[in-house]
Amino acid sequence: MSNWKEVVALDGIPVLGSRVFRTDETEIAIFRTRDDSIFAVHNACPHKGGVLSEGIVHGHKVTCPLHNWVINLEDGEAQGADKGSTACFETKVESGMVYINL
Ligand code: FES
Repeated sequence: MSNWKEVVALDGIPVLGSRVFRTDETEIAIFRTRDDSIFAVHNACPHKGGVLSEGIVHGHKVTCPLHNWVINLEDGEAQGADKGSTACFETKVESGMVYINL
């Protein structure tokens, strides 16, 4: 099911940065990678809920600011020996605006 929501201007997200979008149910971190890809994931680390939007973006991954778990932004999965995942949301960019599929 599609429920596309316009969330932010692409120019409003710095490269290697993020913006936070809140719904009634959840908080979503929207990341812009160096190759200008946009990813959206639930803004909580699967380890102990670290705020992923405050993490370091590298490649298509983000390192959690709390204990350095690395989360793959493509599928929300923790990398390496760490086990867990955070929810991902589809994204698209149209006419300079970022949309996420809630
Ligand atoms: S809460 Fe993210 S690594 Fe611990």
